[in-house]
Amino acid sequence: MRRLFVAGNWKMNLVRETGLALASGLAQACPKSHPGVQVVVCPPFPYLVPVAGAIANSGVELGGQNCSAEKPGAFTGEIATAMLQDVGCQWVILGHSERRTLYGETDALVARKTATALASGLSVILCVGETLAERQANQTDAVLDRQMAGSLEGISASDLSRVVIAYEPVWAIGTGLTATAEQAESAHAHLRKWLSVRYNAGLADSTRILYGGSVKPQNAKSLMEQPNVDGALVGGACLKLDDFLPIVRAAQELRPA
Ligand code: PGA
Repeated sequence: MRRLFVAGNWKMNLVRETGLALASGLAQACPKSHPGVQVVVCPPFPYLVPVAGAIANSGVELGGQNCSAEKPGAFTGEIATAMLQDVGCQWVILGHSERRTLYGETDALVARKTATALASGLSVILCVGETLAERQANQTDAVLDRQMAGSLEGISASDLSRVVIAYEPVWAIGTGLTATAEQAESAHAHLRKWLSVRYNAGLADSTRILYGGSVKPQNAKSLMEQPNVDGALVGGACLKLDDFLPIVRAAQELRPA
């Protein structure tokens, strides 16, 4: 049985005081690694170091929200994967739809970032998902296939074991619209089948596929209890402990220690 995975993507939110209060509260609520549920927080870059301190020796892991595809060097404003590791990150989110649509990140760039991150020892949360227009044109599966093939170009089976996929329908991100459990399950099953064809059945079976897009305490359980939904990538609802913790607890109920 796959270990569930709940990650909070703070995006460009919170400041030191509110962020540290949230991280400390989460660390207190998750004092040690839970065998059934992995918990990750992804604060903005300036807060990685203090948040790493706040969650030290707890069951909460740290991730960055982006990274450069390049090795350290003359790249003003960029963050190298080695730097993320240096400050205690195990994870990095790549291919988020906000990066793709607002900052023009292509599948090819996402693939280069993924390769760089994996080569430096980070694990990757790789996001894919269709827009509303694409869903309405019945192109969801084709879009997912294209993004998976492009974003995982050159990634070997052994490296894929350090990749978690996040299915995030763009129309559900930050909109309050959530995919129904059936819509999520159908997309996740499609992604798992894609993994089995591109890699192999064993790897497809062991890869975690998260759902993201307006996950809330009210809908988390019904989404995560779908057979192919292995957790959640949470945006808005991860900014308050009172919202995020019930999502973590819902996962823990589904995979008791
Ligand atoms: P949301 O964001 O939960 O605010 O919809 C999810 C995400 O972008 O990962």
